[in-house]
Amino acid sequence: MKSVKIGDIKIKNPICLSPMAGFSSLPFRIICNEQGTGYCPTELVSARSIRYNGVDKSLKYMRISPEEEGITAIQLFGSEPEDFEAAIETIMSTPVLKEVSIIDINMGCPVPKVIKTGSGSALMEDPVRAASIVKACKKTLEGICPNIPVTVKTRIGYNAEDKGKPDFVKALADAGADMICVHGRTRPQMYHGESSNEAIAVMREAVRGYGIPFFANGDICDAQSAKKIIEDTGCDGIMIGRAARGNPWVFGQVIAGLEGKDIPQMPSAEERKAMLIRELEGRMKYLPEDVAVREFRCVMPFYIKGLNGSAGIKVRLCSAVSLDEVKEILDFG
Ligand SMILES: Cc1cc2nc3c(=O)[nH]c(=O)nc-3n(C[C@H](O)[C@H](O)[C@H](O)COP(=O)(O)O)c2cc1C
Repeated sequence: MKSVKIGDIKIKNPICLSPMAGFSSLPFRIICNEQGTGYCPTELVSARSIRYNGVDKSLKYMRISPEEEGITAIQLFGSEPEDFEAAIETIMSTPVLKEVSIIDINMGCPVPKVIKTGSGSALMEDPVRAASIVKACKKTLEGICPNIPVTVKTRIGYNAEDKGKPDFVKALADAGADMICVHGRTRPQMYHGESSNEAIAVMREAVRGYGIPFFANGDICDAQSAKKIIEDTGCDGIMIGRAARGNPWVFGQVIAGLEGKDIPQMPSAEERKAMLIRELEGRMKYLPEDVAVREFRCVMPFYIKGLNGSAGIKVRLCSAVSLDEVKEILDFG
């Protein structure tokens, strides 16, 4: 694929990790960066919470490390432009966050708790408000750090019958969005059923003339599905979500496949366990051990999927409380 610039930021590879709550930890993003990703946004963080509570509560979700991650992106969700303005001002005055490269806005989350506040995918039903949020983010950044681009991640529709929302993405591009990523499912589909490359293509075409990069997302799990979504949609880049859980190697495989090179084999069981431990130890650098292990319980099964005896190991990992216990269960080291 051609190299891509988001605003003035050149990303090394338009193959990125799609943000995932519970999975897009800083250590995992660092690992994905080593596998060749262009960048990996944080999971969604509430702009309103940052506005009223400061960053402390959300720091574990939006901690970044430009030295180890390269390009960084913090994803915010909300429904009030003023919340985004205040959140960005707070982020940009917080030493550990102000080096962020990109601000991403979530306009795709289908979770009822989020949409009932008018945030996430609910914004697809209110393009005027969505555009005003993009404008507010752009304007706030202009006064602080004008070279930070504002990107949006959204879906192909709010209602089951939607087959792409060309006017919605046009409104975002008119408001100044520097990149748009579209997941090929509607809100009611959540993460089920087929992701529609056709509907993504409708949205891609709508903003082709704006000259901003357009990313596609949904069901990419290997080089073949990556090639297909690129061909079907004419996108400039892709984001991979679920297939990367416990499997950062998918990026190396997809990148090799797209470059016409031999696709690397999956690493050995020992290497996969070592990566699991590495991510857990990374999480323990900023969380107490018991909290880190508890939060990591939903991630660990993905690292050991398909290994000998994984079903039994999975059950034991789900009640582990310490790093030593995890190592013992995995028979590691
Ligand atoms: C557990 C989970 C958490 C997610 N959290 C977020 C999030 O915080 N922000 C976001 O924009 N999308 C989120 N998503 C959506 C993914 O980024 C992605 O759009 C979706 O999973 C489709 O891509 P895939 O088929 O490659 O998984 C989440 C998805 C899953 C499965």
